[in-house]
Amino acid sequence: MDDKTKELNAIATAMVAPGKGILAADESSPTIGKRFAALGIESTEENRRSYREMFFSAEGIQEYVSGTILYDETIRQSASDGTTFPEYLKKLNIIPGIKVDTGAKDLAGHPGEKVTEGLDGLRERLAEYYELGARFAKWRAVITIGDGIPSDYCLEANAHALARYGALCQEAGIVPIIEPEVLMDADNTMETCYAVTDKTLHTVFGALYRAGVKFEGMVLKPNMVVPGKKSGQKATVRQVAELTLEVLKKNVPASVAGIAFLSGGQSDQEASAHLNELNKLGGAPWPLTYSYGRALQTAAMETWAGKPENRAAGQAAALLRARANSAATYGKYSEQLETAGV
Ligand code: 13P
Repeated sequence: MDDKTKELNAIATAMVAPGKGILAADESSPTIGKRFAALGIESTEENRRSYREMFFSAEGIQEYVSGTILYDETIRQSASDGTTFPEYLKKLNIIPGIKVDTGAKDLAGHPGEKVTEGLDGLRERLAEYYELGARFAKWRAVITIGDGIPSDYCLEANAHALARYGALCQEAGIVPIIEPEVLMDADNTMETCYAVTDKTLHTVFGALYRAGVKFEGMVLKPNMVVPGKKSGQKATVRQVAELTLEVLKKNVPASVAGIAFLSGGQSDQEASAHLNELNKLGGAPWPLTYSYGRALQTAAMETWAGKPENRAAGQAAALLRARANSAATYGKYSEQLETAGV
């Protein structure tokens, strides 16, 4: 490894340190607005700020969280004590990260498919985010399963964008989280999810290789292999873990610094149980951890509900999920942890 790759590798390794995972708190303002609206919380800038502060200041969260993905608005905001959020997180030994894609847009000429945008001006934006304290970034590609889709063209377009983003991040001294998400909300079987994930990862790693992205200085954020939500198919925790590990081993170079799964709409308990089983299986050449958004935040957001008096209860809910997923990185999660209290 050259010196630059060693620096990236040190950050990436810290992101997937034993017992720790990543808090994906990078919902764009429209996305968090939707989550707030569902709970009757007004989506003002101050409410978004105080919600994030509630989460970041939960006592001891840094024992379970290695890094936090922020959104452009949040990386520029401050905690109540006046410390900017990146500074606040750094003091807790939590690495600040930043979402840099500008969203998945309709792919022209390919109905039902998306391509993620955000490459124009990315070099300059990364330089600014580095100055603001970000040491890793996230770019999410969205792959939809449906009639005759995903097309090869959609996979290639998204892989190309992920690879260009990855190379730009590494040039800037920022670790890229490479997130090719195969969605789980369709009516496909688990076997189809496996086949699409297989092809997606194969296409993405080919593009990363050609772009010169250093695998030691990146973190992969994949979906797990699960049946589509509308399929009616039931899979055991063991089946999900086995097929997920199999498809990763088939496609992901051992030199990748770590794998941090997305939760993608799994329930809180499923997301913890699946990660736990993956770690119990053993034999993976990479650390396997979480980079959960919904599966870490839903309970805390519901409990907080935008009311200052619920702050401590929201923090307790946040810590419960963080602790459960931390235990899952050791294969030591159990149902009892759900009711153990904090
Ligand atoms: P979920 O865990 O809610 O899928 O969010 C993770 C994420 O960052 C999606 O880009």
